[in-house]
Amino acid sequence: MTSFDHHRRPLVVGIGGTTRAASSTERALGLALRGAEAAGATTRLFGSTFLHSLPHYAPEHTERTDEQLELIEAVRHADALIIATPGYHGGVSGLVKNALDTLEELRADDRPYLDGRAVGCIVTAYGWQAAGSVLTSLRSIVHALRGWPTPFGAGINTLETRFDSVDTCSDAKVVDQLATVGQQAAQFALAFATHRTPNLPAQAQSSNSAAVARDTQPTRLLYAI
Ligand SMILES: Cc1cc2nc3c(=O)[nH]c(=O)nc-3n(C[C@H](O)[C@H](O)[C@H](O)COP(=O)(O)O)c2cc1C
Repeated sequence: MTSFDHHRRPLVVGIGGTTRAASSTERALGLALRGAEAAGATTRLFGSTFLHSLPHYAPEHTERTDEQLELIEAVRHADALIIATPGYHGGVSGLVKNALDTLEELRADDRPYLDGRAVGCIVTAYGWQAAGSVLTSLRSIVHALRGWPTPFGAGINTLETRFDSVDTCSDAKVVDQLATVGQQAAQFALAFATHRTPNLPAQAQSSNSAAVARDTQPTRLLYAI
């Protein structure tokens, strides 16, 4: 496990949006990232334009595009993530899922996939049914990638809630919910960093069995599940 630099702010990476220019999904994600910033994080957003530039992930190819490498590197260095997807036909959209498929490239990392990182989950849909069921699907994907879904996830019914600009949302409760998702992702990153072993001298490490246990890598599995 990599040691955490306790002097820097945690990085929260946001992934999400749809191909629509005024995507409510991306705007919701932006509000959640602000909540993470308010809780002490720095943030980076991979929105719909970027996600659209990613080719379909093809595991059999060894070459990756600059955009694929940019996403992979950002997630590799992230301390927490927030993922926002629309509900499309009862599931996560292809645009967002393709970005998550691309994270297969993190399989052999010291921290495989999303290991050790909190992941805030946001779903927009035209109704409560898909908002709830797709939130569950997204959390299952995060579990498969070894991430820690935050306790609070946001399901937003966009028939009732409008995001008229990047700064505005018609429902103050939804703004609070999105801020909570961002806050929990950032707080987990800060708390997790506190519990990671700092660069202690070897002698101090060996006298601390809990620290030794934390630094012991489990046998690496080829796939997350
Ligand atoms: C291809 C497609 C499939 C959709 N499927 C569902 C669905 O199964 N259930 C639902 O409630 N909404 C569905 N919707 C509506 C979207 O979830 C909703 O418009 C969402 O808020 C889109 O966010 P956006 O404003 O970011 O584009 C679908 C929309 C599209 C374009």
